[in-house]
Order: sequence, then structure tokens, then C-alpha cells
Amino acid sequence: MQLELEGKAFLITGGSAGLGRALARTLVGEGASVALLARGAERLAATAEELREAGGDVLELSGDVTRLEDLERFVELARERFARIDGVVNNAGTLAAGSFAEHDDSVWEADLSLKLMGAVRLTRVALPALRESKGVVLNTLSITGKAPEAYTTPTSVSRAAGLALTKALSRELAPEGIRVNAVLIGVIESAQLEHRASLAGVQPAEYYKRMVSDARIPLGRVGHPHEYGDLAAFLLSPRASYLTGAAINLDGGLCPLA
Ligand SMILES: NC(=O)c1ccc[n+]([C@@H]2O[C@H](COP(=O)([O-])OP(=O)(O)OC[C@H]3O[C@@H](n4cnc5c(N)ncnc54)[C@H](OP(=O)(O)O)[C@@H]3O)[C@@H](O)[C@H]2O)c1
Repeated sequence: MQLELEGKAFLITGGSAGLGRALARTLVGEGASVALLARGAERLAATAEELREAGGDVLELSGDVTRLEDLERFVELARERFARIDGVVNNAGTLAAGSFAEHDDSVWEADLSLKLMGAVRLTRVALPALRESKGVVLNTLSITGKAPEAYTTPTSVSRAAGLALTKALSRELAPEGIRVNAVLIGVIESAQLEHRASLAGVQPAEYYKRMVSDARIPLGRVGHPHEYGDLAAFLLSPRASYLTGAAINLDGGLCPLA
């Protein structure tokens, strides 16, 4: 199947590592241009260079999704460079866990600002360009948005709000030909999980093995970032033209809810 992404341009927040980087690789491989936003300039530059070596037309901006001015600049630069924006991928985020009693207002506000308001801000700023292209919005969420777990209160609430945002916006923008979908992640290999493995003093492979057995992932393994890249690229592509308002679990069967 041809994804028909050649010549299109996509913005990805959190594009320097993990899922965002895997998606950028897939899009570049399909002939699309990508603009990446992340805070850490060094890792971002390395990812952008790797994508250019693969033949990609890449724009990178060091910025933070919690800062509106960074997102305005991101959209402005992308429009100048590519003269179009065909989709935005609201993907930046971090793992978060802990007990409810330990989370003061600042923890809640930070989680909502990063995971919910980051997506709200970028989508709003990019909307004029998406209207011109009849573009696509894709939100990377977590299965905790559908099936909240203990010790995940702020992140589960942020992700549930992300689901509501996806559905409400999909219905509001459908008459304009703009599609809005979400991918809900279970456990996929990532920089954050590898950092946790090193804090626990174990190799990533051993850490993932423990996660599979503790969480009882039905497919018996964690996911690979390229599996997200494949699904996300499809959702961004014209081949998914009748798909909007969907929230698809990418979790090896982990989430108890469809
Ligand atoms: N991997 C999983 O198992 C899993 C599970 C559930 C949900 N998710 C969600 O999937 C998304 C991608 O995660 P990942 O696994 O790919 O994590 P990752 O490998 O740690 O990558 C996270 C990316 O987000 C960027 N980022 C973090 N905070 C940011 C901010 N405030 N502004 C701009 N960029 C920011 C990071 O770069 P900088 O740090 O340099 O800014 C990095 O590029 C996240 O929203 C995560 O919560 C992942």
C-alpha cells in the first residue's frame, strides 16, 4: 500500500526520541517533510542529522510545548519552510507515577500543561494551516486514559482529557475535512523506560521482561517504536481518509477496554 505522503509536511512534538523519532523516520522514508520540537537541543540536532542523512527535509526547533511562544514559532517556521502543514502530532510527554497524596497542585498543573494543554495550544496555533490543507491531528496518549490504573492519577486524568479533546475536536472539525485521531500506548521501548532501567540498575532488556511479566501483556512483549511509526503514519495519510474520532490502542492487548 502506498501511503501517499510524498510532498506533505508534518509537525511532531517530542520528535527527538522514542516514538516521535520513529514516526519521523517513517514519514521521511515515505517522502514527507518533518518539523521536530523538543527541549534538549543536542539530542534534537542528532535526530535531525540522522533524518537528513536518510534524505529527509527536516526542520528542528528547540522548544517546550508548555510555552505558547515556542509553539507559535514552531508553526511559523514550518509554514515558512514548507509552505504547508498537513498534520500535527501531539506526542511530547513523560512517564509519570506516584501516589495521589504526594501530588500537590504544581504536579497536577505541570502534567496537564504538558500533556493536555500542549496539544490544545499547538492544534489551535496550527489550525489556520490545517484548514488550508484539510490536515490531520494525531494525539499520542496512553491506555490509562481509557483504563486508569492506581498511582497514575494526574497522567490518567490528562490522558482521559486528551481522549475527550480528540473526540470533541474530531466532530467539530470534520465538516472542514480535518481528521483528529489518537493512539493509546501501552508499553513501548523508549528513552524514558531505558532511563528507568538504568536507575534500577538493570539492562533495558531485563527491565522490559519484568514489565511484560508484571503487567501480563497478552502478546508477551513490549512494543517497538517503529510499530507506533507505522500506525501513526497510516493515520496521518490519505489512506485513513474515513477515520476520525478514533482512539486506537497500541498495547499488545494490554488494555482491558477496546
Ligand atoms: N513509551 C511508552 O511506553 C509510553 C506509554 C504511554 C504513553 N507514552 C507517551 O508517548 C509519548 C512519547 O513518549 P516516548 O515513549 O517516545 O518518550 P521519550 O522516548 O522519552 O521521548 C519523549 C520526547 O518528548 C520530548 N519532550 C518531553 N517533554 C517535552 C516538552 N515539555 N516540550 C517539548 N518536548 C518534550 C522529549 O525531548 P526533551 O526531553 O529533550 O524535551 C522527547 O523528544 C509521550 O507523550 C508519552 O507519555 C509512552
